Amino acid sequence: MPSMIQISGLVKRFGTTEALKGLSFEVPKGQVVGFLGPNGAGKTTTMRILAGYSTPTSGTAKVGGIDVMQDTVGARRLIGYLPESNPLYEEMMVLDFLRFTAEVREVGADVRTARIKRAVERCGLGKVLGKDINQLSKGYRQRVGLAQALLHEPELLILDEPTSGLDPNQIVEIRSLIKELGTEKTVILSTHILSEVQSTCSRVLIINEGKLVADDAPERLQNSQGSSVSLVLASRSGGRLDPAALKATLATVPGVTGVDGAEGEGDGTFGFRLRFGNEDPRRSLFEAAVKNDWVLLSLERTQVSLEDTFRKLTGVEKPAAVVETKKEAA
Ligand SMILES: Nc1ncnc2c1ncn2[C@@H]1O[C@H](COP(=O)(O)OP(=O)(O)OP(=O)(O)O)[C@@H](O)[C@H]1O
Ligand SMILES: [Mg+2]
Repeated sequence: MPSMIQISGLVKRFGTTEALKGLSFEVPKGQVVGFLGPNGAGKTTTMRILAGYSTPTSGTAKVGGIDVMQDTVGARRLIGYLPESNPLYEEMMVLDFLRFTAEVREVGADVRTARIKRAVERCGLGKVLGKDINQLSKGYRQRVGLAQALLHEPELLILDEPTSGLDPNQIVEIRSLIKELGTEKTVILSTHILSEVQSTCSRVLIINEGKLVADDAPERLQNSQGSSVSLVLASRSGGRLDPAALKATLATVPGVTGVDGAEGEGDGTFGFRLRFGNEDPRRSLFEAAVKNDWVLLSLERTQVSLEDTFRKLTGVEKPAAVVETKKEAA
């Protein structure tokens, strides 16, 4: 499949800050990709370069085979871009703004009305066409931002946090719109809502400190970190169980790759968290319990969340502190 996006060795420095440290990835035509990373990871920087609004210190970015730096106008014809802050002409009426944008994007006069109508329908703007943009709620502003990105029917949509600041109902609506758009276009969207990626994207790119740290399908990213089983045991005969011996026995159960031992509860029960890889060890655990005369008080499989994976890969132990730093820098 031909690549819609080709980013190669992208480096971007702002003074002494190296926002991108040699970022490379490709996105084939038709894919819907989630672009994740903690605050300051370099998502917006990458998207701005890709959309031709910023130049990299070194490296290349191509859209549909066109080098964005060499032929910015040509590349932009293929791109619909929703910037992070979604800057709009505040004083303009929604309809006038869309007309103006269509003209700037060189949408032919003959199809302009039809294109505006389609974008308005898709983004649910019918009721606010006559309003000034500065009267709109955040959700409607976001819809206008999306509509302006669609007017020239681009092949690639670059959406920088399309659902940020929206209420849960609006999030669901915008998400389903993006999903629908994803059936006919290539989409790269950045977000901090990890469930959004699971529901909308077939692939996830995670960046941290300007470098790619993961590139996989959302479900595979979840599973790559392994799953776990929690279990609580007691002795069937009422005798005392030795936690160290229990732990050692559990470690030998087929499928189990690690045992995190809990202390006894004082009531003769012991809780453990067992890690496992591809093979679900629950059946073997039951058999081990029978063989060793344990009572299985509970046996529960817990799925590692995408959040866990994200935190592990990006090492964000104190998200609040990261947000603080970003605010100071802004
Ligand atoms: N115009 C600029 N001048 C100086 N530094 C900048 C500029 N734009 C971005 N940076 C820095 O580059 C780094 C990457 O920023 P970027 O906005 O790309 O992050 P992000 O992943 O989009 O974060 P967020 O999730 O907060 O939107 C940060 O350290 C940021 O402070
Ligand atoms: Mg950003």
